[in-house]
Amino acid sequence: MFKDKKVVFSGVQPSGDLTIGNYLGAIKNFKTFSEEYYCLYCVVNEHAITVRQNPAELRKRTYETLALYMACGLDPEKNTLFVQSHVPAHAELGWILDCYTMFGELSRMTQFKDKSAKNADNINAGLFTYPSLMAADILLYQTEMVPVGVDQKQHLELTRNIAERFNQVYGETFVVPEGYIPQTTAKIMSLSEPTKKMSKSDENENAVVRILDPKDVIIRKFKRAVTDSGSEIRRGEGKDGIMNLMSIYGAFTGKTEEEIEREFEGKGYGDFKMAVGEACADALAPVQAEFARLAADKAYLETVMEKGAEDASRLAARTMSKVRRKLGFVELGRK
Ligand code: TYM
Repeated sequence: MFKDKKVVFSGVQPSGDLTIGNYLGAIKNFKTFSEEYYCLYCVVNEHAITVRQNPAELRKRTYETLALYMACGLDPEKNTLFVQSHVPAHAELGWILDCYTMFGELSRMTQFKDKSAKNADNINAGLFTYPSLMAADILLYQTEMVPVGVDQKQHLELTRNIAERFNQVYGETFVVPEGYIPQTTAKIMSLSEPTKKMSKSDENENAVVRILDPKDVIIRKFKRAVTDSGSEIRRGEGKDGIMNLMSIYGAFTGKTEEEIEREFEGKGYGDFKMAVGEACADALAPVQAEFARLAADKAYLETVMEKGAEDASRLAARTMSKVRRKLGFVELGRK
């Protein structure tokens, strides 16, 4: 607990242009914690290099992800917004936690299996130990709550196991965190293959709506979205495409599934897809405008990064000092 508030931590990889899955599953919810909790939101660039990145692109996306956090309403005065590589304690604790994470546990991670299949020529050790670095991100700040999409649930459960294991050996060291997974938007699906997660690294551009896509592109992508052979806007078996569009429409308009079904009674898929596209583009327009303003001011983004790194480092140092002492690492200058 810092400043008498419970801690919220989450992170986004700057590994591609962010999608409405990232927005609805995670970033949009970050703001709801800002008043009550001490919130840290990190651009996790160290995680991103588990897959080969173009350095210039990675640098650019790091600024952009920070600007998007702010464009989505995160005030840097009320939240600690920072970049992972600016706080070396993440990598340090990551290594330590590697030694408290079992090979068998890491082997069971579905994200590792998926990413190894996609990057068969680069199944590096970092890809394998990714979850212990993620555990370090979270445990470093004595985090109570982690808002994420459902694809991160397995990593969170592993984080809890690592924390409990460490606490059992060394006595209370880490807070054991809980996940906060939204109900209807925990897994936004691909528009082309609605049984698959919408992913920022998807090679099929029509499958993904990006937060910064212009309105005409958003509408075109929704128009092309794969639906089933029926014609009714209703939930049901085999209606993955329609149910995905209903979750997206509901999230952007605040309407419930029943309300959506009633609104589109007697109407066809074409009308519905158009409405989803319009609602999505309208909701993202203010985020895009604010992003354009912020992204143009690199110097300002750097001052936010600097302040964020300072605050995060100070908090991380407290946990690290405790961890080193418990492990038996000699600390100098503690007379
Ligand atoms: P990343 O960068 O893949 O995604 C960022 C956040 O977006 C959520 N998300 C989705 N939610 C709903 N539907 C989707 N289609 C969708 N796609 C992505 C993710 O669940 C995530 O919340 N391992 C993390 C980054 C990370 C992290 C952390 C998160 C590193 N350390 C510590 C929380 C706490 C990741 O790869 O997210």
